[in-house]
Parts: sequence; structure tokens; C-alpha cells
Amino acid sequence: MERKYWEKIAPSYEEEIFDVLKQDKQQLIRQAIESRASASHKVVDAGCAVGKWLPVLSPLFQQVTAVDISAKNLAIAAAKYPELTNVTYQRADLSSAHITMKGYDMAICINAILSDSMTKRDRFFNQLSKAVKTNGSLVLVVPSLESWLLSRTIQKHYKIDQALFRGKITDSEAASRYNNIQQGNVEIDDVATKHYLGPELQLTLERNGFAMEEQHKVEYDWHTEFVAPPAWLKDPKPFDWLCVCRKKN
Ligand SMILES: C[S@@+](CC[C@H](N)C(=O)[O-])C[C@H]1O[C@@H](n2cnc3c(N)ncnc32)[C@H](O)[C@@H]1O
Repeated sequence: MERKYWEKIAPSYEEEIFDVLKQDKQQLIRQAIESRASASHKVVDAGCAVGKWLPVLSPLFQQVTAVDISAKNLAIAAAKYPELTNVTYQRADLSSAHITMKGYDMAICINAILSDSMTKRDRFFNQLSKAVKTNGSLVLVVPSLESWLLSRTIQKHYKIDQALFRGKITDSEAASRYNNIQQGNVEIDDVATKHYLGPELQLTLERNGFAMEEQHKVEYDWHTEFVAPPAWLKDPKPFDWLCVCRKKN
């Protein structure tokens, strides 16, 4: 997932990309942000895309910095919310070694660390670590590998949306997928996308100077995974991981 990919998708972002803010029906992410926000604090939205979280952040914080790798996404966000006068926009590649964010009381990062490259992900986590002040907060949401496997297992067992799931793949595709899945990279719309295990997040965040204070499943309706889920399929639900962390010394 390079800059090219996000720039290309920007004009059709609303139709193509999953809306976490809208689908988090329990509003767990909003609550995590609200409970740690302060009108004297500065927050950064790392990987803000078209700025869906900006109307949530702007009234809660003194200053909001919206960062994204895609200039087109930032232009769409700026045009959508001219009334949010405490928001500034910054284009930056948060997977680069050059540190661009510093001195924030809170960072939010909602489904932005998706790259299949371990180096890029490591650098992104390091950026978040450098961005947040000691005792500041990180509100992180990432796709769950457990949830992806749950969906696949249920799909296979109950033959849901059968026509949409190809039965056979070539040997070379299988080899590539096997190599990918061992790193938590699985296909979403044919793009290898990093998915995380709960305990893996504990370790990664700890090694980047964050103490995990809360870890929750952000649960979604099965219609977000399947075109025609059976009426009996309610719980368990598909989910993303929400991690709420405090920056240590
Ligand atoms: C799935 S969207 C999530 C958007 C937003 N956080 C939300 O919840 O609506 C992922 C965003 O992360 C951005 N992104 C991905 N890699 C990035 C990087 N290395 N540096 C900065 N932004 C990045 C993409 O451009 C895209 O806008």
C-alpha cells in the first residue's frame, strides 16, 4: 500500500473504504477519545484520510493536526470542513524514517497502519511513539487477524456468499499467500493488508514505549463482511482491535 494507491482511491474514498466511525455502533472509539480529551490539549490524527474524525476531535481539543500521505485526501478533508478552524493539515509519509510529529497529548490512528511491509509498519509505530508526550494517549484501531480467520472459517463452513469466494488459486498465488499470512498479511480486495493478533499488539506497543490500558473489540454487523449473511448469524461478530495506550517515559 503505497502513496500511489491512496491517491488513486481518494476520489472514490467514501464508496470504497470501510467507515469505522459509522460502523462502531457502540461508539467505543469515540468514548476512548472523549474520556482522555482536554480543551487545552493537542491531538494528531495520523492517517486521517478524508477527515471523518475531525468533527469529533475539533470541539474536544485546542489544536488538531490532520496528517496523511495522500495530498488528495487532505484536500478533500480541508474542503469538507472549512468551519473547523483549529485543524491544520500536513502531508507526510509516516512510514519514513524522518520524524514528523512531536509534542502531542494524544494521537489517534484509525486503520492506517495497514502496510504489508514490516519496515514501514515499524517506522509508523515509531512515529506514533515520538509523536506522543510522556503520559499522553494513543487511540489505535487496526484490523484483527482473529476476526479475518473467523469470517473465513464461517464462510467455508456455512457456504456464505459462495459465488464470491474462489475455490481454487494457482500454486504460486498459494505460496505467496502462505508466506504473507505468516506475517498477518491477508487479502482485502486483492491487496495484501496487515491484520494484527491481540497479543501481537501488546508486544508491539510495549516495544514502542506504550502501556496498554485498554484493549477492546470494535464489533461490526456481519453485513460488513458478507453480502448475504444468514439471519441466524449474530454473535460472535467480526471486529477490529481498539487499543488505548499511555506513553511511558
Ligand atoms: C483506511 S484509511 C483510514 C482513514 C481514517 N483514519 C478513518 O478512520 O476514516 C487509511 C489512511 O491512512 C493513510 N496512510 C497509509 N499509510 C500512510 C503513511 N505511511 N503515512 C501517512 N498516512 C498513511 C492513507 O492515505 C489513508 O488515508
